[in-house]
Amino acid sequence: MLEGKTVLLVITGGIAAYKSIELIRLLQTNNAIVVPVMTKSALQFIKPLSVAAIAGSKVYTELFDLTAEAEMGHIELSRSADIILVAPASASFLSKMAQGGCDDLASTLLLATDKPVFVAPSMNVRMWHHPATQRNLNAINDDGIITIGPNEGGMACGEFGLGRMSEPSEIVAFLNSYFKQGPLLGKRIIVTSGTTHEMIDPVRYIANRSSGEQGSAIASALADLGANVIFITGPSTAPIPANVELTKVRSGREMHKAVLAQLPADVAIFVAAVSDWCIDHVSEQKIKKNSNGPPVLKFNENPDILRDVGNLKDDRPSLVIGFAAETEDLYKNAETKFKKKGCDWIIANDVSATTGYMGGDENKICLISAKQTEDWPLMSKKSVAKKLAAKICTALEV
Ligand code: C5P
Repeated sequence: MLEGKTVLLVITGGIAAYKSIELIRLLQTNNAIVVPVMTKSALQFIKPLSVAAIAGSKVYTELFDLTAEAEMGHIELSRSADIILVAPASASFLSKMAQGGCDDLASTLLLATDKPVFVAPSMNVRMWHHPATQRNLNAINDDGIITIGPNEGGMACGEFGLGRMSEPSEIVAFLNSYFKQGPLLGKRIIVTSGTTHEMIDPVRYIANRSSGEQGSAIASALADLGANVIFITGPSTAPIPANVELTKVRSGREMHKAVLAQLPADVAIFVAAVSDWCIDHVSEQKIKKNSNGPPVLKFNENPDILRDVGNLKDDRPSLVIGFAAETEDLYKNAETKFKKKGCDWIIANDVSATTGYMGGDENKICLISAKQTEDWPLMSKKSVAKKLAAKICTALEV
């Protein structure tokens, strides 16, 4: 986890330097302390005043700066941080790093440091693919420097391809997973969340109600305990947790495919409110009102992801957990589901309108396993998630 870590953020000259502000904010949201260093070229792209204001720290720029040396010498600066992050890392700066050049503050810090160094490259697609850049990258990777990204996409220069700096959220997720610790370290856990949209035509769909709050809270609690969480979510209004591997899907069929593609896993938790049905024939054009009256929709059954995974012969996770959101006969319906779906635990909750659990911050659940039925008291969805994560640790004996 990044919590309490000091990040020496080296900003080099590239158009992606404008993302540094968002990167600093996100690092701070993850409770990291950011000390910014800017190269001369970076100063052409972004004002040090903005960086200092957001970071709440002096921005270091000059190697031979008497005031800075009196405050903290460059050697001390390179050692005081827990990690050094170069973002964006331009092709020119990567080349300097590969050579061991040290003619400015940023490159000198990198040569003098004894801490882990990460680079998030950012450059034009042709520059990225150039053998010289690839040679430089191999050289710095051999020196133990870790590369984050780049991504593929449109570039400021109008071209398309690999070379876009990773998004700040991806950089922070990467760093968080690097520092992960906890009892679930090394465990791969799939969590489905949100709802699914089953299209009727390009503008209409049917869906189950779900805020995604409970799924996000569970994914987050597991990641906090060090798990490698594969978070597969349909549409949701809940925040996407930091430090999870995210796959966004829309329909139940897409979610089914995404889950199977992520197996094997140690644990799979199916929190998503997947629609049981999809539309038999999705109209390519928006269906128009006409004198024949409203359209008649024909439904097909969606694949049942939980049932398919729970009944797998090979690659079945050792713990498969399902949810049963019911509006009546909670225990009876949940127990039927428990048997039919081949899961190890079913978490039943009453979502009838009077409880307010659907879309609310609290939940009251009952955990059904082969051994027992446990009624948990009313608690926040975050507390349900933490208690469930602790129970998973016990079940995995970690
Ligand atoms: O049958 P029902 O939809 O009530 O079952 C709820 C449980 O099954 C939840 O854990 C849900 O995530 C999962 N489910 C699924 N795929 C479906 C339908 C439900 O994984 N198509």
